[in-house]
Amino acid sequence: MAGLIPQNFIDDLISRSDIVEVINTRVPLKRKGKEFTACCPFHNEKTPSFTVSENKQFFYCFGCHAKGNVIGFLMDYEHLSYVDAIESLAADAHLDVPHEDNGRTNRNTEDKQPLYDILRQASELFQQQLKSSERAVEYLKKRGLSGEIAKQFKIGYAPDGWDFLISRLGKSKDHLHALSKTGLIVNKENNKTYDRFRDRIIFPITDQRGRIIGFGGRILDQGEPKYLNSPENTVFHKGFELYGLYETKQALRKIERIIVVEGYMDVVALAQNGINYAVASLGTATTTEQIHKTFRTTHEIIFCYDGDNAGKKAAWRALENTLSVIRDGMIAKFLFLPEKEDPDTMVRKEGKDAFEQRIKDATTLSEFLFEHLKAEADLNTKEGKAQLASKAKKLIEKMHNSLFKDLLIEELSSLVGLSQQHLESKISSADKLNVPAQKTAKPIRGQQVQNNKTRIAIALLLQNPALASQHKVPDNFKQAFTKGLPLLYELQKIIESNSEISSAALLERFRDNEHEKALQLLSMLQTPETENTDNISEVYRSLIERLHYEDREEYFHHKIENNELLTDEEQKEYLELCTK
Ligand code: GTP
Ligand code: MN
Repeated sequence: MAGLIPQNFIDDLISRSDIVEVINTRVPLKRKGKEFTACCPFHNEKTPSFTVSENKQFFYCFGCHAKGNVIGFLMDYEHLSYVDAIESLAADAHLDVPHEDNGRTNRNTEDKQPLYDILRQASELFQQQLKSSERAVEYLKKRGLSGEIAKQFKIGYAPDGWDFLISRLGKSKDHLHALSKTGLIVNKENNKTYDRFRDRIIFPITDQRGRIIGFGGRILDQGEPKYLNSPENTVFHKGFELYGLYETKQALRKIERIIVVEGYMDVVALAQNGINYAVASLGTATTTEQIHKTFRTTHEIIFCYDGDNAGKKAAWRALENTLSVIRDGMIAKFLFLPEKEDPDTMVRKEGKDAFEQRIKDATTLSEFLFEHLKAEADLNTKEGKAQLASKAKKLIEKMHNSLFKDLLIEELSSLVGLSQQHLESKISSADKLNVPAQKTAKPIRGQQVQNNKTRIAIALLLQNPALASQHKVPDNFKQAFTKGLPLLYELQKIIESNSEISSAALLERFRDNEHEKALQLLSMLQTPETENTDNISEVYRSLIERLHYEDREEYFHHKIENNELLTDEEQKEYLELCTK
């Protein structure tokens, strides 16, 4: 695996690129005053509500509220992963992406190219071979596939024999090396090699950018093993890739939902029958990485499994992995097919509409979760309720804070008869809290006002990182009583360690962080304070001072109300505060 991309490279890349230029080549923009506008590429509309700010290097849609910086745009628009978006942006700027991998900077990307090349060439040969094998064509026809679909999925045929690929592609030592690294040929003792895939239908597996990274091969008749897959190698990591995801993205601009199935043939058969939004995990349980990847492409996933026990088990694993990924706005459902059926046989039997009706009627995650737990516990007894609560607790603890999580706790509460508050106090959070729990528990007086001040201070600093060197936030903001102040402190520290950082790069540091959404909004917040550029520095200074004062006041009041003793130093500080 490639190492981490150094943060300063990402900062630099963002400040070098211009979001207006990047978006304009994909979605033509019109200048309108200070901003640029277009019809939003992320939802259907007739009048433009998509805006791009050159100053702030952000985009925002007033219609669907899509927003982000240049990397976010590429991820959403081109359905790229974070790393791929960076690579694409870097390629435009003619930069190589460095990776922090024990001094092997850059070697990784260079090493991979020969592998991609050989995989592409092999795939082309397999596709040619399909045309000349009547038996293979017959097999695909028998399974209901048209030539068109076979072409779309680049389905091929590996002929029988031991040295087809070696004789065509193994012309030099380097080629042989690439063939062997990708697992297309297998090394025997005494330096001999032979082709891995022989007399099999070939399903090429592509990555997000459409590069072929591996193959699945099915036997034509009966025999073992039914499927043979490429082994793991530097370009192919089974747990990270999904068969059919690239093809889905190619087929659809807006992907409303994705159905996750088990087999290659299921994906292809569904596409053949007009359901061109299916993907398959590669012969393993669906991993969190795969779920992450899918949720970056769509907001609804339907996991589809057989109705038998193995299917139920696989679905439960998928549920467990989904819990740690899901956030508000994402939907996960489970579709169980009748026994002895898989999506391939089902869709061929009943057609597109009936199958899509099944998708519509799929079980929601919360239904599946509680039905499964209820089946395992006797809710007529306290012991059974406790058992269920304890199992549910372990699952809910995997979740990010969200309204969905709150609702699950609510349902659990009514099921076992414990108050929501009680359950919440028992369930620890997967998200790190900046404010110690016992401090947030108590409502803070004047919170609304403070909240606004904190928000404005964060917005000012985010929009004008240079303020950090003019007015430092006090060190005790790190552990502050007031929500948001620790975040302000964190921003201050990031800017101190990189004084040239731009707003957009600063925001990038919070990708996938619990504060990401809030910060995105604040980066675009317009208030009299943020718009009055003449005395922004003074406004910021007085805000910080005020926030500090109020936070300390709240802190002391809280201590006093709880009969906690103030230290000598604190007493002194409190007295000074009271006389201000
Ligand atoms: P068909 O019989 O062609 O319809 O296969 P399927 O797509 O319905 O596959 P099945 O449900 O039998 O298996 C689902 C997936 O598990 C396949 O697509 C493969 O990825 C994987 N798989 C199945 N059988 C084998 C096997 O013998 N070896 C390996 N390595 N993987 C397998
Ligand atoms: Mn099947």
